[in-house]
Amino acid sequence: MLKLGVNIDHVATLRQARYATMLDSPNAEPDIVAAGLAAVRGGADSITMHVRGDRRHVQEEDVVLVRDACGLPINFEMASTSEMVGMALRLAPDFVCLVPENRKEVTTEGGLDVAGQKESLRATVGVLREGGSQVSMFIDPEEEQIQASAEVGADMIELHTGCFANSDKDKKSREIMRLQAGARLGNALGLGVNAGHGINYGNVRELFEVPHLKELNIGHSIVSRSIVAGMEEAVREMMGIMGAYPGG
Ligand code: PXP
Repeated sequence: MLKLGVNIDHVATLRQARYATMLDSPNAEPDIVAAGLAAVRGGADSITMHVRGDRRHVQEEDVVLVRDACGLPINFEMASTSEMVGMALRLAPDFVCLVPENRKEVTTEGGLDVAGQKESLRATVGVLREGGSQVSMFIDPEEEQIQASAEVGADMIELHTGCFANSDKDKKSREIMRLQAGARLGNALGLGVNAGHGINYGNVRELFEVPHLKELNIGHSIVSRSIVAGMEEAVREMMGIMGAYPGG
């Protein structure tokens, strides 16, 4: 069965848009723990959260609260920095996914260059594995990066599906072929194979052509869908409360 990791970063994005400077306000919403629990009820297999260096959405405390409340494996996305390695050792998530991070980017833009920094990543992977986490590398579906991920001791790779998601119909079949080849190589090297980024309700079925996938990590599209799907009920509830206005 293909597993689903639900990335709830953008629940925190919405909260930060209003409460970044007053996170301890009793009014701070949406409640990321409530969102995590809703994902659990929906059948999520794991919860993914990315604490960025600039703390633009998820905070360390969010990960603690969600981890303790949800009881599902946590997939902690992070850049390979000493600050984040320290955080991962404190949080002891089930999985760590190493991602590239660039302060100006709106979202993760490409895969991690594992081949270009094998020595430092081998050390990071070793420390994280000693801390009890399984380690995944978020990489483009390129042979060099997949080989390097195996060489540095990663347990898994997460194939970056952003190019697939953003390509037009003509280029899509090429992207699927790249993902297929990447998944086959990763599997042959003994790596677990996951995929993520840009996957949505419209394109997810196309990934069924990619073999060996264990888990898809999906965030933006699920959070977006939940806002639209929940708007009607949210407005009805507010109207219900306002309906009790005594007049005058
Ligand atoms: N996987 C990784 C490594 C990511 O960085 C992200 C985005 O934070 C995702 C999956 C989820 O991508 P999306 O929000 O586009 O579903």
